[in-house]
Amino acid sequence: MKSFKWGPLFELGIPSIDSQHQVLVECIAKLQECQDLDCSDSNTNQLFQILVDYTTFHFDYEEKLAEDAGYPMNKEHQLQHRVLKEQVLSFQRRFEEGEFKVTVELLKFLVSWLSDHILKEDRHLAEFLSCQDIIDVEIA
Ligand SMILES: [Fe+2]
Ligand SMILES: [Fe+2]
Repeated sequence: MKSFKWGPLFELGIPSIDSQHQVLVECIAKLQECQDLDCSDSNTNQLFQILVDYTTFHFDYEEKLAEDAGYPMNKEHQLQHRVLKEQVLSFQRRFEEGEFKVTVELLKFLVSWLSDHILKEDRHLAEFLSCQDIIDVEIA
């Protein structure tokens, strides 16, 4: 599987969001590596959980930031986050029920979802925040 890498294309100019996206990309890359190396199911499960937890943290962070800044598209953005989280949780359930090959499907889906979401929805939010002069937010 081609490994998912962080690149300047993903940089949105909001340091906290950029660094969180970088961590998300790393979480996905670790899961890919684990898949390629055929590591144990319990290791995969652990990485799965880290990914779910970090995704939840990141989405909550972005949503709070957007809300505080009065971002007009926040409802739509939140909906996208919610749908993704439900999809990842359903992949996780399938994995826990013994469908171990689901990781391949999850990875394909995540790489495409995350790239798309960062480049469209998050970029839109970042542009809004920059216009409000919110460009240097501390990580909560
Ligand atoms: Fe994001
Ligand atoms: Fe987002």
